[in-house]
Formats: sequence, structure tokens, C-alpha cells
Amino acid sequence: MNIAYQKLAESYDQLRENQEQLVQAEKLSSLGQIAASIAHEVNNPLSGVLVYTQLLTKRIRSDKLSKDVALENLSKMEAELNRSTKLIRNLLDFARQSPPTLWEVDLNEIVSRAFDLAAHLAELQHIQVIKELSPTIPRLVADFDQIQQVCTNLIMNAIQAMPEGGRLTLRTSTSSDGQVKLAVQDTGCGISPENMSRLFTPFFSTKGKKGVGLGLAVSHGIVQRHGGRIDVQSKVEEGTTFTVYLPVRQEEHKEG
Ligand SMILES: Nc1ncnc2c1ncn2[C@@H]1O[C@H](COP(=O)(O)OP(=O)(O)OP(=O)(O)O)[C@@H](O)[C@H]1O
Ligand SMILES: [Mg+2]
Repeated sequence: MNIAYQKLAESYDQLRENQEQLVQAEKLSSLGQIAASIAHEVNNPLSGVLVYTQLLTKRIRSDKLSKDVALENLSKMEAELNRSTKLIRNLLDFARQSPPTLWEVDLNEIVSRAFDLAAHLAELQHIQVIKELSPTIPRLVADFDQIQQVCTNLIMNAIQAMPEGGRLTLRTSTSSDGQVKLAVQDTGCGISPENMSRLFTPFFSTKGKKGVGLGLAVSHGIVQRHGGRIDVQSKVEEGTTFTVYLPVRQEEHKEG
């Protein structure tokens, strides 16, 4: 009896050790993947800038430089540098995981501001926008800029999912358990079941050069640090709804 018990305990320990090693290996490999993606992503635009620098130098040396060509080359360099700056900024946000600066904020105002930044894109893509912002939701204690970043990321994703136009609905409400809720709904391409589990993984993107794959990873971190959560519902070729739940007050700010 005793021996059987001891054997069981030993195999349990062994199992736990193996599992810890696996978790560690997985962490390391995702770190390696992240490092490789960063190197790749930053290297591409920098190589582009290098080529244009060499081109410009050559033309200046041989006195064959027209103002138009120079301006064109410079604007290409600017675009490439903007791309790497954006990438590095996103990465820093992601790595810093800065604790939220808490203030009493109005979610409707945050959603409206986030949408204003993207309104022009929605119009260009002939997207119909429906705002159902409930006037009765309570104000919440949150970091205005960080929640605005979450809204912007979700709205941008929704717009990018509807290149041929569609309908974007932004809805705020109070959930049954008293949390404040924001739904960002699109009638776009939808998400395949196999991609569903990878959405929040850093650098997961199906957008090729147009996506870094950090929007949802960053948003997930922000919402988690606010004590909330994000839900996703999606049907391929029908559309997607991301719902953010945020507690009105976070635990440590509860009185009494
Ligand atoms: N509303 C949506 N409809 C369809 N697919 C979506 C939607 N939102 C996210 N996705 C999928 O999830 C992936 C990850 O989204 P995420 O915002 O993290 O990265 P991204 O948009 O590709 O790049 P970026 O870093 O610029 O945001 C997207 O590439 C896309 O495949
Ligand atoms: Mg995105």
C-alpha cells in the first residue's frame, strides 16, 4: 500500500517536473519567435532606407539629381522609417505593460474619440457606421489613453476586415453583472476557427505587410490590467464581434 502510494507520488512529481519543463520550453520558443519577428520586421524597412540613401548619394555625386526624384526618394524613406517607428512603439507598449493611470472616465467619450481617428478610413471604404452609445452607463475608473488604444485597435481591425464596405456597429451598455460593456461589431470577412485561438498571440497576423500582429495582444494586456476581459464571436464571411467587459471600479479601489 505504502509502496504503491510512494510510486504514485513519484510519478506525480515526475509529471509535474516534465510539465514545468514544457512550459519553460514553450516560453523560450515564443521568446525566440518574437525576437526573430522583431529582427525581420525592423530589418526590412531599414534595408529599404539604406537602398534609397545609396541611390541618393550616387545621384548627388554624379550631379544627376532632379528635385522631384530626390523628393520621391525621401518620401519613400520617410514611409519606411514611419513603419519601423510604429513597430517599435507598439513593441515598447507591449513590453512595458505599463500599469494604468486610473481616473474616472466616460467610455462613450473614449469610443467617440477613438472612432473619430478612424472615421475618414471608414468613409473611404463606404462603411456604414452605427453608434449605439448608452447614455446610462456608469463612469468607470480606467486609463483613458490605454482604453482609447484598445478601442482604436478593435475599430481598425473591424474596418480592415471590410475592404469592400459593410456595417460597423459600436455599442456600449451595462452587462448583467454591472460591468461596462463595449461591442465592436463588423460585417467583414470573419475569423476561421483555427485562427480563433491565436488572435491574442503577439505577432499573429493574417495581413502580411499591412499588419504587425500586436493590436490584439496589446489590447488584451490593457484590458486584463484593468481587471476586465475580451470576448470574440465570429462567423467566416458574416462578421465578427469583439466585446470588452470592464469593471466600473477595480478591486483595489473598492471602498469598504
Ligand atoms: N474584426 C476582425 N475581423 C476579422 N479578423 C480579425 C478581426 N480582428 C482581428 N482579426 C484577425 O486577428 C489578427 C490579429 O489582429 P491584430 O490586431 O492583433 O493584428 P493585425 O491587425 O494583423 O496587425 P496590427 O498590429 O497592425 O494590429 C488579424 O491579422 C486578423 O487575422
Ligand atoms: Mg490590428
